[in-house]
Amino acid sequence: MHPMLNIAVRAARKAGNLIAKFYETPDTVEASQKGNNDFVTNVDREAEHLIIDVIRKAYPQHTIISEERGELAGEDQDVQWVIDPLDGTTNFIKRLPHFSVSIAVRVKGRTEVAVVYDPMRNELFTAARGQGAQLNGYRLRGSNAKDLSGTILATGFPFKAKQHSATYINMVGKLFTQCADFRRTGSAALDLAYVASSRVDGFFEIGLKPWDFAAGELLVRESGGIVTDFVGGHNSYVSGNVVAGNPRVVKALLSTVRDELSDSLKR
Ligand code: IPD
Ligand code: CA
Ligand code: CA
Ligand code: CA
Repeated sequence: MHPMLNIAVRAARKAGNLIAKFYETPDTVEASQKGNNDFVTNVDREAEHLIIDVIRKAYPQHTIISEERGELAGEDQDVQWVIDPLDGTTNFIKRLPHFSVSIAVRVKGRTEVAVVYDPMRNELFTAARGQGAQLNGYRLRGSNAKDLSGTILATGFPFKAKQHSATYINMVGKLFTQCADFRRTGSAALDLAYVASSRVDGFFEIGLKPWDFAAGELLVRESGGIVTDFVGGHNSYVSGNVVAGNPRVVKALLSTVRDELSDSLKR
C-alpha cells in the first residue's frame, strides 16, 4: 500500500472508532452553531485532533488543511492533507447513523491518495492515483448508465447558502423528470464514495468545501468516473460546485445544471 495511504487509513479508522464510541453515549456530545444551520460538536474536534496527531507523527513537515482547525502550514507546502474529521455532523447530532471521516493527500494540487471511512458500517473506501478504488479491499466500478433514465442521483441541499434555493430547486425539478429518484444522505464524502461504488449513479452539490469532496473525487476518478464544476471545468476547489458520475451521466447532468445556472454560480 502507498505509505501515505497507510497513514491516512490508520488516522481515519482511529477517528471513526472514536466517533462510533461517542455515538453510543449521546449525553457526552456537545453541539454548538458555527453559523446559520451549521453545527459542530466536541466529537468533530476530538476526531480532528486524533487525525492530525497521526499525520504529524508520520509526516511532521506536511501541510494540513482541516475543517475545524483550518490550515496548519508545514515546511512542505507542496504536500497537503485535506481532512474532514466528521462529514455528516447534522446526521451525527440527530443520531442518524450515516456519516464519515474523509482524508485526502494532495501533492502540488493533484490528489494522490484518498480514504472515506463509514464507522457505523465499517466500510473503508480507499484510492491511490492510477491504482483504482476499493471498498474494504474489493475493487470498485462506477455506474455504467448511458443517460439519466433509471438513475438514482445523490445531492445535498444548499442549507448554508439559502440564497441559492430557487436555482437549486429548479435544477432538482428538471433533473427529477429525467432520473428515477433522488437521495439526500447528509454526507457528501459518502455520496461520492457511493458514486464510486455505483450505489448511486451521479451526484451534484452547490458550495462544497475542499474537505467535503477531495477524497471522494479521487474515489470517483479511480472507479472510472469524472468530477467537474458546474460548467464541466476543473474549478470545484474554488467554486465549491461539484458534479460527479461516469462521463455520460456527468454530460447529462451538466446540460440541465448549466441551463439553470444563476450568474453567481457561473464559475
Ligand atoms: C456537510 C455534508 C453534507 C453536505 C454539506 C456539508 P459537514 O459536511 O457533507 O452532506 O450537504 O454541504 O457541509 O459539515 O457535516 O462536515
Ligand atoms: Ca461542518
Ligand atoms: Ca463536510
Ligand atoms: Ca465536517
